[in-house]
Amino acid sequence: MLPIGLFDSGVGGLTILREIARALPYENLIYFGDTARLPLGDKSPDAIVRFTLENAKFLMRQNIKLLIVACHTACSHAMEILEHLLPIPVLGVMAPGISDLLAATKSKRVALLGTAATIASGVFQTQLQTLQVYPIACPLFVPLTEEGLQNHPVAAYIAKYYLSPLQGAGIDAALLACTHYPLLSAVIQQTVGPEVQLIEPACSTAQEVFHCLNRHNLLNPKNTIPEIRFFVSGDPEKFRRLAKMFFPFPIKKVQLA
Ligand code: DGL
Repeated sequence: MLPIGLFDSGVGGLTILREIARALPYENLIYFGDTARLPLGDKSPDAIVRFTLENAKFLMRQNIKLLIVACHTACSHAMEILEHLLPIPVLGVMAPGISDLLAATKSKRVALLGTAATIASGVFQTQLQTLQVYPIACPLFVPLTEEGLQNHPVAAYIAKYYLSPLQGAGIDAALLACTHYPLLSAVIQQTVGPEVQLIEPACSTAQEVFHCLNRHNLLNPKNTIPEIRFFVSGDPEKFRRLAKMFFPFPIKKVQLA
């Protein structure tokens, strides 16, 4: 059965992949991390669109049946273009995160944490107009996680630096609008306090994937052990070492794309 393809700039999209692998245990999966061009979130809108299309094309060449854009930066700049261009279904991480956030907040005051490009795009803010949104770009969070420093004291220091404007803002939820950020959720939670619920889109995205495959009659009918394949554009060994720290399934091989 054809695989599902996912991409991100690095290990962040694995937070989506691990939920999909749990929720859909018979689906073959292909993950592509465009690590040679990471971080994506500090690039220009044109470059983000170009890299996103190239990443999608790479996965299309692997003959995937569904594309998941496991990157908020790519979603906020290129989702409509991908949906228009590709002959297969395309799902992103934006809509699931937004609906979870809307369901979670009672105070209607929320934080939106994302890359500089995601925040600057204004796409999330437009869809959250019924709420009081505090958008904060946290550009150092991605390199921190890509260096495996999520539990290092420097992570707490940087989180405090970025998130201090939220003090006293009365927020009760924060959307982690970057797939790398759930890897820092312990330190983010500590910084914003226990009254703030952190929202990440992984579980809802996995449910969306199930419904989409079901609707298109694309679910794998065989209960066989699936294959999960990994490709990167940068250093395969660095990716494998890092991914092993939190990805709950074996990663035998990472290939250079
Ligand atoms: N993980 C990506 C996202 O969700 C982008 C990280 C990066 O800046 O490369 O936005």
